[in-house]
Amino acid sequence: MTDLKKKNTLLYNIIFVIVGGALLFFLLNAPEESTARIPYDENHQRFYSMGKKEAEKFCDSCHYQEGDAPLPIDHPPKYRCLFCHKKVEKNGN
Ligand code: HEC
Ligand code: HEC
Repeated sequence: MTDLKKKNTLLYNIIFVIVGGALLFFLLNAPEESTARIPYDENHQRFYSMGKKEAEKFCDSCHYQEGDAPLPIDHPPKYRCLFCHKKVEKNGN
């Protein structure tokens, strides 16, 4: 009985370490700040006044494989565009 409990505790600890390690790995692998920013042009200007989630609904309408501006073949997983592609800073203009 107590043996089984000990085993379970060990199992949970192992799972905890693995999940923690995976998270750390994921965070350390996050793309650098050099990721292309969203241009401030006629195609993208309207997204600057939107929330991230709101804006992301529109990206696919142009950025799909056969579209006007396809993503690179080796593009990383693309759920949440604006986490990686930031808006450009507008210095007051
Ligand atoms: C109306 C069509 C259209 C929509 C909608 C659109 N884009 Fe684009 N996007 C383009 C075109 C065309 C280009 C390539 C020419 C350019 O740089 O403007 C481009 C280029 C880009 C680039 C590359 C800039 C560079 O430096 O090479 C990024 C990043 C980008 N878009 C992100 C986004 C994100 C994120 C969204 C959704 C919020 C989005 N786009 C929505 C048409 C669109
Ligand atoms: C996990 C981070 C991440 C997410 C999420 C992401 N991208 Fe990217 N994207 C990158 C990286 C890294 C590159 C290649 C390096 C670069 O040029 O910025 C790239 C490249 C691009 C390019 C080509 C830029 C160029 O200069 O040629 C476009 C366009 C683009 N992404 C659009 C999008 C759109 C639209 C979405 C959402 C549907 C999206 N990305 C989601 C990281 C991301």
